[in-house]
Amino acid sequence: MDKHGEGRSIPDEETNPLPRGLESMLKLTIDGKEVSARPEQTILEAARQNGIDIPTLCYHEKLSLIKSCRICLVEVEGAEMPVASCATPIVDGMVVRTRTERVERMRREALRLLLVNHPLDCPVCDAGGECHLQNRVYEFGIERNEFPPEKRDIPASPYGTPLIRQWFDRCVMCLRCVHACIDVPGADVLDVVERGFPAHIEAVRKDNCISCGECLRVCPVGALTETLSPEKGRTWQLTRTQTTCPFCGCGCQLELNSLGDKKVVKVTTKGESGVNRGSLCVKGRFGIDWVNHPDRLKKPLVRKEGVLVETSWDEALDFVVTRLRQLKEKFGPQTIGGIASARATNEESYLFQKWMRACIGTNNIDSAADLASGAAIRGMNACLGVPGMTHPMDHVEEADLLLVIGADPYDDNLIFSNKMRLAIRRNNAKVVVVDPRQTQWEKWADLWLRPLPGSDRAWINGLSRLLIEGGSVRKDFIEEKTEGFDSFRASLERFSTEFVREVSGITPSDLEKLARLYKRAGRRAIIFGSGVMQNLH
Ligand code: SF4
Ligand code: SF4
Ligand code: SF4
Ligand code: FES
Repeated sequence: MDKHGEGRSIPDEETNPLPRGLESMLKLTIDGKEVSARPEQTILEAARQNGIDIPTLCYHEKLSLIKSCRICLVEVEGAEMPVASCATPIVDGMVVRTRTERVERMRREALRLLLVNHPLDCPVCDAGGECHLQNRVYEFGIERNEFPPEKRDIPASPYGTPLIRQWFDRCVMCLRCVHACIDVPGADVLDVVERGFPAHIEAVRKDNCISCGECLRVCPVGALTETLSPEKGRTWQLTRTQTTCPFCGCGCQLELNSLGDKKVVKVTTKGESGVNRGSLCVKGRFGIDWVNHPDRLKKPLVRKEGVLVETSWDEALDFVVTRLRQLKEKFGPQTIGGIASARATNEESYLFQKWMRACIGTNNIDSAADLASGAAIRGMNACLGVPGMTHPMDHVEEADLLLVIGADPYDDNLIFSNKMRLAIRRNNAKVVVVDPRQTQWEKWADLWLRPLPGSDRAWINGLSRLLIEGGSVRKDFIEEKTEGFDSFRASLERFSTEFVREVSGITPSDLEKLARLYKRAGRRAIIFGSGVMQNLH
């Protein structure tokens, strides 16, 4: 019997002085400082987490390992040669030195070799002021290119998208763009062409390019620049305004880069901020140029004697307040209704409904978003009590089964599609696509079923029946959280696999395969789209 009494299990924290999770941490010494890190971390990650800077160039935390630049070399006690810290996992008791004379010399040498092809035209380069190469060159005190660049005879080949300009001479062949294009959207447009001195990056599968700009975002130098605006500005001339992309419900965070006259010249993202973690789709990255259009309304218009006349915001708002007050007094608040824009953020929509209810006194409020998703919102609310997604978007990254029904996230919502791809990369998630159309996700699917259009209800009910018959139900959950389960089960009686085949064309063996994959998975994500939402069943 222990001091806690017979039979009582001892919580971890009482036997182990370390907080939960830290007990599996490894200890190592970096530059004389003892630090702790998780076993799966690399030397670079452990160092950065503990505030120790190791210079890098090709490494990017969002991408798979590249290991092309050798700038991140460090010495490890017991190892004959310096190792790339971005690629070397930590070991308990490891002793690392990041600033020895030998590694500084080797880094400098690696940098000089990177400069062989590089013109160091920082004064006219778009990336000047925020270029990783420029920073490293400055850090290592390299004042000139010791191997003046030879003219390379690279055949002019257009990039994957006209929205990005490629500058071959500025490229340091770090391969970030190639990895980004494969790892993030999965487009696989770029590759290294030729070997040795003439080696360069080329858009070899141009048709795959979706103009997402992920390559542009990760390029550490000015070898890829956007062509959004013919006007350019140096970093220090631009004002960066953080805002929310207005194009879809994803709500990506982006920065509008404007020159003094408020002209937007490019769009960037800040680190890993927002739900998009620095990525954007073509609309957010390159579709904002409409704000510069000369026909865009920038001032309110009030109709005076039948003609719309430009006016000040004060006058326009006074006019709105006066008219609304008159209408409310004369006809009552219920004669007033408001429709919010589908482009409004959640916060703006919230404020709008609050204003309509509290100030006007009416519940006649709608949103234009209802036109596209109203049926799904009402359906989700009726079934689950939630008028929208049941989870934050990021949770899809944890899934080990992605069931994609009548949705094309790659085309319709790239940021969500990128998160789904993370589930494949991290968890080896299985993918089932059920869609009569061929979409990009079919490429990554373990199983692609093509039901006849309009037959989703049949196969979904058939799948439910198979799962219930196979015992894939949590009785405690059903008892505690649901109602009407018995009548639901009874309603599935006629949805035998044969019936499903007749109605949808999905064979019994395919439906059973789907049921097995679904049953085996521990964390499933169901992604449905307009194919089921905007269809008769
Ligand atoms: S814009 Fe996107 S799809 Fe096109 S090459 Fe760059 S990363 Fe690949
Ligand atoms: S274009 Fe940029 S990201 Fe791609 S290899 Fe060259 S320097 Fe690296
Ligand atoms: S997914 Fe594209 S359109 Fe939607 S919010 Fe993000 S950048 Fe904008
Ligand atoms: S940052 Fe490690 S090899 Fe490039």
